[in-house]
Amino acid sequence: MSKQVILIGDINIDLSLKGIRNISEIKLGAELGIDEYTFDIGGSGFNFIKALNSFGVKTDFYGKIGNDFFGHNIKEHLKNNKINNSLIISDEIKTGITTMIPIKKNRFFFTYSGGNEYLGINDLDFGKIDRFDHVHLSSYYLLKSLQPDYITILKKIKANKKITISFDIGFDPLRNWQSEKVFEILKYVDIFLPNETEALNITKSKNIEKALNILAAQCEIVIVKLGPKGLTASTKRNTGSETISLLPYDVKVADTSCSGDCFDAGFIYGFLNGYGFQDSLDLANGCGSLQASKLGSYKFKDLSEIVDFMKVTKKVIK
Ligand SMILES: Nc1ncnc2c1ncn2[C@@H]1O[C@H](COP(=O)(O)OP(=O)(O)OP(=O)(O)O)[C@@H](O)[C@H]1O
Ligand SMILES: [Mg+2]
Repeated sequence: MSKQVILIGDINIDLSLKGIRNISEIKLGAELGIDEYTFDIGGSGFNFIKALNSFGVKTDFYGKIGNDFFGHNIKEHLKNNKINNSLIISDEIKTGITTMIPIKKNRFFFTYSGGNEYLGINDLDFGKIDRFDHVHLSSYYLLKSLQPDYITILKKIKANKKITISFDIGFDPLRNWQSEKVFEILKYVDIFLPNETEALNITKSKNIEKALNILAAQCEIVIVKLGPKGLTASTKRNTGSETISLLPYDVKVADTSCSGDCFDAGFIYGFLNGYGFQDSLDLANGCGSLQASKLGSYKFKDLSEIVDFMKVTKKVIK
């Protein structure tokens, strides 16, 4: 039977407002017309699940949303698109929303965390989680109510030795990074997937080789996503240890905002389906690069779209 994955993570509405060309166009008190907007269900965790779903993996996920207009729309959309979920709808909170405004090469984010802040240990059914092969954890710093119970949660999951755990920690808006706590968490994690900023800040390192070494001392598989520089990764799983760095596929970049989440999905797909380390990384890179060439959240038909892209696209040359 194929492997099944459950997420404990973030889900929210992503609103992008496009067409502001210069920050000087924004004047206090004035109304500003824009060219276009996109409206998606997002959140790092949900993007990951959506991608894995499209690859044909059986998934489920825990997240928290409000009993409001956005919450109902999310539930309806998931039902219509047959995306299995264990979302908790609460009367007391609102659904989270992130508004993104791209201006030139910068992006401005306005985030209301909503339900993401309130998902707690009591929302999780560990009997249910135990029936899955793999657990993915996303956006540690945003899921504030889970933070005090993180180690307890990991211990409960790892009581079943067959379950593997991946962890995409995400950016810390408070920039505290909680390094000591993160190192403690990594003892229970099989696959850690930070980006460059996260890896450097958590390890308080100036260069990525050093950061990778520090993280690899805590966790069996560490993959650092390096945006336009691809990835650098280390494994101690199975036979011996191995470090691999790969450049990404050469694409015309449209929007990199969900590429890390698609990257994660590609790696986990390879990992759970018995691909070798390098092949899993290559698939992750393919997913990340193709996503970076598209505007908005994940919209691929299935895995074949990514495999076809990888066959015809060259890697970036150093
Ligand atoms: N400019 C680019 N060209 C080609 N591929 C890219 C580019 N930017 C990102 N990617 C691909 O996407 C992967 C993830 O990128 P990145 O480092 O931006 O992750 P992230 O910051 O975690 O993203 P997210 O915003 O989804 O959290 C890279 O490892 C690479 O495979
Ligand atoms: Mg990321």
